[in-house]
Amino acid sequence: MQDLRRNYERGQLVEDQIPQNPFDLFTQWFEDASSAEGILEPNAMSLSTVTSEGSPDSRIVLLKDLRNEAFVFYTNYTSNKGQQLNANPACTLLFPWVNIERQVIVRGKATKVSEEESTAYFNSRPQSSRIGAWASSQSSVIQSRAELEEQLLSYTEKYADNEPPKPPHWGGYGIVPYQIEFWQGRPNRLHDRILYTRESDGWSITRLQP
Ligand SMILES: Cc1cc2nc3c(=O)[nH]c(=O)nc-3n(C[C@H](O)[C@H](O)[C@H](O)COP(=O)(O)O)c2cc1C
Repeated sequence: MQDLRRNYERGQLVEDQIPQNPFDLFTQWFEDASSAEGILEPNAMSLSTVTSEGSPDSRIVLLKDLRNEAFVFYTNYTSNKGQQLNANPACTLLFPWVNIERQVIVRGKATKVSEEESTAYFNSRPQSSRIGAWASSQSSVIQSRAELEEQLLSYTEKYADNEPPKPPHWGGYGIVPYQIEFWQGRPNRLHDRILYTRESDGWSITRLQP
């Protein structure tokens, strides 16, 4: 590990060449990540939350929409992350686009998306994923893999002839940011870090030392 060393020289972030609105820059960077080689899931992002004891907790989720200035993902509301967000909506997203020498960090607050939006997205998913949402009580302990497969079988039979509705405990969260940091690797560890912060009349742009 100590000998792994790479000079970052694929791009740069210059104040007079970036948009005033961070969502415009995010959209450009998301397109770059989507067309880059070697990024399997460009919409995979780490979601960090805070536990009831005040410890950080993290896991990967998939960005499914960017709407009304909110980053949207879907999950089980009774999961660990769901309980943590219900108690404390403060959270951070991180897109680790290491292959293109970039990361984006989004700090904000999560709120549930509307039942209508969650239902519309749930209904667009394949039948197997919709049944899976019923079969797994996400984050609860289970005695064995076999028990999980029995749960899946029982819901597969239940919904053999009709469409599974969206479970009430399943849906989306939208994270509305108050800060977005764009990090671009540069030579000699003098990386570019541009921080957008929400102000009453728009976004301020500052540069952070690497
Ligand atoms: C590539 C990838 C994508 C994932 N996408 C999601 C997702 O969109 N929603 C979700 O609830 N879990 C997703 N997971 C699983 C979560 O990382 C996590 O294991 C699960 O949500 C339970 O987290 P929790 O116990 O902290 O609530 C994904 C995992 C990986 C590796």
